[in-house]
Amino acid sequence: MAEEGVPVIRYEELPEGPAVVLLDQRRLPREETELVCTDVPALVDAIQSLAVRGAPVLGIAGGYGVALAAARGVDVADAAEQLASARPTAVNLAYGARRVEAAYREAARAGEGAGAAAVRALAQARALHREDAESSDRLAGHGSALLEELVPGGGLRVLTHCNTGRLVSGGEGTALAVVKAVHRAGALRRLWVGETRPLLQGARLTAYEAAKAGMAYSVLTDGAAGSLFASGEVDAVLVGADRIAADGSVANKVGTYPLAVLARHHRVPFVVVAPVTTIDPATASGCDIEVEQRAAHEVTVGPWGGSGLSEAEGEERRALAPVGAQAYNPAFDVTPSELVTAVVTDEGVASPVTAERLTELCSASRRR
Ligand code: MRU
Repeated sequence: MAEEGVPVIRYEELPEGPAVVLLDQRRLPREETELVCTDVPALVDAIQSLAVRGAPVLGIAGGYGVALAAARGVDVADAAEQLASARPTAVNLAYGARRVEAAYREAARAGEGAGAAAVRALAQARALHREDAESSDRLAGHGSALLEELVPGGGLRVLTHCNTGRLVSGGEGTALAVVKAVHRAGALRRLWVGETRPLLQGARLTAYEAAKAGMAYSVLTDGAAGSLFASGEVDAVLVGADRIAADGSVANKVGTYPLAVLARHHRVPFVVVAPVTTIDPATASGCDIEVEQRAAHEVTVGPWGGSGLSEAEGEERRALAPVGAQAYNPAFDVTPSELVTAVVTDEGVASPVTAERLTELCSASRRR
């Protein structure tokens, strides 16, 4: 059940031809504006600048992007490569692009013309979009049942990080879909929203979704999490994932790993919620996950948008650090499986998080 509003992503036939239309997440929460991508380079730019972001919807964007290339009659293999490698960490992006590319190739191999193969590609991308919405519902079901077991009695105070809701998905999302289900059941006392420096996916996007859903929520600076745990105000931590390695290591938005360490110290359940498509059996362990490194100005100047200044003026006037300061800006960090109480997937729960259980969940998904 998604809240009403501008669709997060859609594929449309516009007067100017086929397009992938995105809710521009860079402009939230101030403006709900759509961004029209009529070619693959525009979509790659939207992905890299985080107009569209979050693992599951990146998969949908990758899929629609390949369908767009096919419809526009450009080189599909090249488009799939550009899209799959636009950002390195979220495995869903490559999964979506490659899945739709495979559908296109299969149709072409079967002797279908380019037009018919493009129709097949779009059908595959739409199927991926639909499946993601269904997977959100299953995540919400499994996750809320698990929370009832881990922290019985309701009145939950949940801490989350980054944004994992409707904005990252064809449905209600991953971790935030669980929080929404708990809220609808009347069992959520408060959602603690980590602001998520430097691009503020928590403060800008999760708070926007929490407000729309009518939740009691508070935004905190990332550095305030320790004192929040110490004062006993957190009953559970729920986060998403960008890639889960075969050994159960979880790559997610930078700042997730320190929360897992805090949660362990304070004996609070730390739960990761992600569709099976986020598990990557081809990545053996956490150290094999490529962590995206982003530009220094995101840290030293801050998020884009809203200043009304040119980029150069904006950089100077909004500078948080001396102009020219260097920065360490990894977009993600990796949490080892032993700090994760449970991984909730659309096929069921892994707890403890073992390689064997993750393999079982992946196989269950293939049988579906
Ligand atoms: O850099 P972003 O905003 O794409 O990072 C997103 C996250 O880290 C999310 O937590 C993750 O994709 C899981 S969303 C289901």
